[in-house]
Amino acid sequence: MTDPRLQRLAAALPGLRLLTDANDLEHYGRDWTRHWTPAPLAIALPGSVEEVQAIVRWANDEGVAIVPSGGRTGLSGGAVAANGELVLSLQRMNRELAFDATDRTLTVQAGMPLQALHEAAKAHGLVYPVDFASRGSCSIGGNVATNAGGIRVIRYGNTREWIAGLKVVAGNGELMELNRALVKNSSGYDLRHLMVASEGTLGVVVEVTVRLTSPPPPTRTMLLGLPTFDALMQVFAELRSRLRLEAFEFFTDRALHHVVAHGASQPLDGRHPYYVVAEFADQGEADEVAVLSAFEHCVGQGWVDDGVIAQSEAQAAQIWWLREGITESMAHLASYKNDVSVRVSAMPAFLAESIALFEREYPEFDVVWFGHIGDGNLHITIVKPEAMAKDAFMTECARVTELLAATLQRHGGSISAEHGIGLVKKPYLSSTRNVAEIAAMRGIKQALDPKGILNPGKVFDA
Ligand code: MLT
Ligand code: ZN
Repeated sequence: MTDPRLQRLAAALPGLRLLTDANDLEHYGRDWTRHWTPAPLAIALPGSVEEVQAIVRWANDEGVAIVPSGGRTGLSGGAVAANGELVLSLQRMNRELAFDATDRTLTVQAGMPLQALHEAAKAHGLVYPVDFASRGSCSIGGNVATNAGGIRVIRYGNTREWIAGLKVVAGNGELMELNRALVKNSSGYDLRHLMVASEGTLGVVVEVTVRLTSPPPPTRTMLLGLPTFDALMQVFAELRSRLRLEAFEFFTDRALHHVVAHGASQPLDGRHPYYVVAEFADQGEADEVAVLSAFEHCVGQGWVDDGVIAQSEAQAAQIWWLREGITESMAHLASYKNDVSVRVSAMPAFLAESIALFEREYPEFDVVWFGHIGDGNLHITIVKPEAMAKDAFMTECARVTELLAATLQRHGGSISAEHGIGLVKKPYLSSTRNVAEIAAMRGIKQALDPKGILNPGKVFDA
């Protein structure tokens, strides 16, 4: 370790794990986006809140930027370290700290993976219901940082709804205990919610107290093949009014093509422009009758061409993989992702306009549409044509995202539904937030991180 700043950090914290090996810098310097070359100064893996505080104070003294880091599964570049930053990884701080049966809360260190949190909740006979495909790798601290959503938002809401309290190290190294798991607390600004979706720019989340709930009723999973997007919205309205929906997700035939190319089998006899995965409560005969009659009604209306209801957990998992496996099946392809939202009521008009936009601008591009349609959240992944140079592709993606952002603005939507702004969506922040809002965000950043050392350049520039 030749850098004198790192030598001073190591001398101040002799027990701190610090990595400077080239492989580690590469590994910890990137997230699931692949647009930047990682170039961090070093990786710090603290084991305690006190160590995190000491690192943040050192960073203030030395003028070194910090990139707080969880599972690095982010898709907007929020955890990228490409400019000599210190990556502060919470990976070693992954333990359960406390469970309270009366409050139904679980307190864990921020580096705990989401799946481990699910298992810990289950061991206490309860459920933490926020869920998505990267559950095995992402961490709860990162989920807080992006207000992660996922596949059951339609029933349970986003991460934000389940955060009862947070311990956060602010940009000046001070420790803040936010809300302390109180159900009611009207004692001024709720800084807890300010931290949610702040992408590591206001503080380092070190401990998270989540609310838990009772296990849901048994569920069934259904896959439907549909002829049009209009039909999809009709089916959504119909199923929502007749069943207790736990999830309502969609993908196009093009998305299915990638998952099948990755090893999944064609789920239905024919091919269909759109597919829906719906999960609903199934508590016996009455639900069974309701499901069948809803299905028959949708077929009768011409909204559904074909469908299957899983008869076992294994079959349900296979159906879910068709939706959850989309990102993994495309991970080997160079691509650019958009993750946008509009009010559900605005979805048909917005989707029609954006499909027309892509068809007009890029008829030759492989554009994959999927997402959490029941929440008004669309994922649009653009695959780089093999013959196109990476720089030219990124220029084209920036151009089309500009047009998409303008379309979103007309429909009152957001340029980031659940992936965050990070670096990737920073140029388009003003399509979702007005001048007064961005000025307020800057003021908040200044108050909590006066020297601007926490994740600088993410969300907006200083
Ligand atoms: C998903 O819903 O599968 C994720 O948000 C990942 C993605 O958009 O690629
Ligand atoms: Zn998603």
